[in-house]
Amino acid sequence: MKTIPYMGLALEFLNATEQAAIAASRWVGRGDGKAADRAAVDAMRKVFNKIDFSGEVVIGEGAKDEAPELFVGEKLGTGRGVLVDIAVDPLECTDSVAYGRPNALAVIATGPRGSIYKAFDGYMEKIAVGPEARGAVDLDMPVKTAIKKVAHVLGKDVGEVTVAVLDRPRHEDLIQQIRHAGARVRLFSDGDVAMAIATCLPESPIDMLLGIGGSTEAVLAAAALRCLDGEIMCRWKPSDERQEKELKKLGAREAKKVFSARDLAKSEYVTFTATGVIDGPLADGVVFEGESIITHSVVMSLLPRTLRFIKTKHILET
Ligand code: FBP
Repeated sequence: MKTIPYMGLALEFLNATEQAAIAASRWVGRGDGKAADRAAVDAMRKVFNKIDFSGEVVIGEGAKDEAPELFVGEKLGTGRGVLVDIAVDPLECTDSVAYGRPNALAVIATGPRGSIYKAFDGYMEKIAVGPEARGAVDLDMPVKTAIKKVAHVLGKDVGEVTVAVLDRPRHEDLIQQIRHAGARVRLFSDGDVAMAIATCLPESPIDMLLGIGGSTEAVLAAAALRCLDGEIMCRWKPSDERQEKELKKLGAREAKKVFSARDLAKSEYVTFTATGVIDGPLADGVVFEGESIITHSVVMSLLPRTLRFIKTKHILET
């Protein structure tokens, strides 16, 4: 059976998201997103840099969030061993942590060198669906048509379809279109990585994700959706001068291109690892138990196709 050449590092990568989640979770509700982000970045970088591999960050957060980023091009690991591309968001949903809202994760995706989309942190339009609707929808379809198609493949009435949308003023018109189509809207304050993945989870009520969100989140979700056989389609949607400039550097073709999950995470050896900071559809948050800390994580790979839910008890040294 073909397996990921660096599968042996999976537990070490898991430790990186676990430590980032634990560090960020100490800032829950304290109103300081930057401190939470910094704590997550520092903890993740510390773990990564002890691992024997040659990692490179190909997309991450930073410029959009003014975060103490793990920056694009940053080398991770000891430099000895396998070459790995890393998409990273040490703290997905900074504001959720700052204000004690749900859905925050520490998250990475990996693939062999050259396999994960290398780009800047900006905005993209997105449509994400689960396995049944893969191939049935695309980004340029009218919203009503896409919803009808999803309803059809899921064997539901349109009124039973639930569409997750980031609660942002820019989505007012989109929300009207979904309502007009007759589907249900689930607004969420932050975290479109988890909501894109939720479209693939049978126990989740979410059938589709629509709207504009981060490009880093698009790539992270693409890695997960490849593992889960779902689909995400995206197109750049720059929102300011910096993003316009960055997009120009990528070239006119990239600016217009509709990316599929396979375009953003090309390899058969893609992996996705996330640890919950605060409870969300994908994972529960960090629990402090006095003498130990409990973390909840999800680890996915495409080859072999696995989805692991991992609960870890971190026993504190006394
Ligand atoms: P961060 O807190 O990690 O920046 O992301 C939270 C998030 O809700 C993402 O899930 C989403 O893609 C992005 O923000 C949308 O950006 P914005 O908050 O600027 O609308």
